[in-house]
Amino acid sequence: MNIALIGSGGREHAICQKLSDSKLVNKIYCIPGNAGTRKIANNLNIDSLNFKKLLIAIKFYKIDLVVVGPELPLVKGIVDFLRSNKIKVIGPNKYAARLEGSKAFMKALCKKYNIPTAKFKVCKNEKGVKKFLAQNILPIVVKADGLAAGKGVAICYSKKEVEKFSKEIFLGKFKNSKKLVLEEFLKGEEVSYFLLVDKKNYTFIGSAQDHKRVGENEKGPNTGGMGAYSPAPIINKNLEKKILNRIVKPTLYALKAKKNPYTGFLYVGLMIKNNNPYLIEYNVRMGDPECQVIMPRLKTDLVKIFNAALENKLNKIKIKWSKNKCMTTVLCAKGYPGVYKINNIIDLKKIKLSSKSFIFHAGTKFIENSLVSNGGRVLNVVVLGSTFLKIRNKIFTIIKKINWKYGFFRRDIGWRVIKSK
Ligand code: AMP
Ligand code: GLY
Repeated sequence: MNIALIGSGGREHAICQKLSDSKLVNKIYCIPGNAGTRKIANNLNIDSLNFKKLLIAIKFYKIDLVVVGPELPLVKGIVDFLRSNKIKVIGPNKYAARLEGSKAFMKALCKKYNIPTAKFKVCKNEKGVKKFLAQNILPIVVKADGLAAGKGVAICYSKKEVEKFSKEIFLGKFKNSKKLVLEEFLKGEEVSYFLLVDKKNYTFIGSAQDHKRVGENEKGPNTGGMGAYSPAPIINKNLEKKILNRIVKPTLYALKAKKNPYTGFLYVGLMIKNNNPYLIEYNVRMGDPECQVIMPRLKTDLVKIFNAALENKLNKIKIKWSKNKCMTTVLCAKGYPGVYKINNIIDLKKIKLSSKSFIFHAGTKFIENSLVSNGGRVLNVVVLGSTFLKIRNKIFTIIKKINWKYGFFRRDIGWRVIKSK
């Protein structure tokens, strides 16, 4: 099979690695990919939002299956377009992708089906904001309705902050959001729970916890993710039952009832309070960097899993997992998530990795034959092992060897699961 993988981050490099391990794969094309995927696949510099051009390339390269990594093409309807052109694709259609593309849509669905989530109100103007403020206690979470590349959420500790961020959204700070969602603040432990879904079934595809804040001890602004580990020990059988029965099943039912059954990866973002799950968000894709710690633990051929999904037979496949745990620390460009420089040279020539260590590239590219940075999150150093403490020490050793003077990283990834220093 020839497979095209849309995206250019660490998530896509991790998926690409798994695809390249499969005996069922002939060629992999990453669109556009990064310097890491270039070593194991063919990078094609095509704008994946230009669906017509994409289709020409798919036909030219005889691509049998398209796997979509990021949310934007999904929300824009890439799956509908490809399916209408008889191309097989892993991902949800445009309607189902609204689970991530519109927070108001997701919240309305929760309300209709009694899915546990933070109390909320959708506001179209400042009057609505004032009313919610008068009736609820701080902190309050303000969320732009549409996609905002991780920047559309603010946890506000004063009324002034709520009013300021709301006003910015109404004034068009996030182009796709004319409205916003105000939410009660949920206190608990966050966890990401992943499924792969076909029209009839779903299968568990890993759990993870990530670290969104840029600074150690969870300080500083939010980022795309500074590190993650899998599995998430907070998930147990009892909790899993509640997640599936109270949250996942009603959601999948709701989309089926609208004649738009969900298909593809589903990222269930949860807050756990007293062993009860509350839905914080849905993402219609794998997480980044969560994917980088789930793929290395996956022992079943990923292409076999995708084929089962395409045939709506995910119930027939038994997915095998490594007993090892996995963790990643993200090496970022200094200044991220604020202003940072790109095009700084990275030298990985002397880095030798064991079969249990990986470097998944994120913001990297080649200029001539030099590997250089090309984004805020640059490399994911990933290690499999028996304990999170041993894994983290190994990660530190690798990062030390990389010795990238333009970068920084968090030393406390996994603090919840590594009690001793
Ligand atoms: P979202 O884009 O909705 O996932 O929000 C980004 C991050 O903000 C989440 O990963 C949480 O850490 C935090 N967050 C969002 N909503 C809430 C909430 N209702 N209560 C507490 N934290 C939240
Ligand atoms: N790591 C968070 C996300 O992928 O949205």
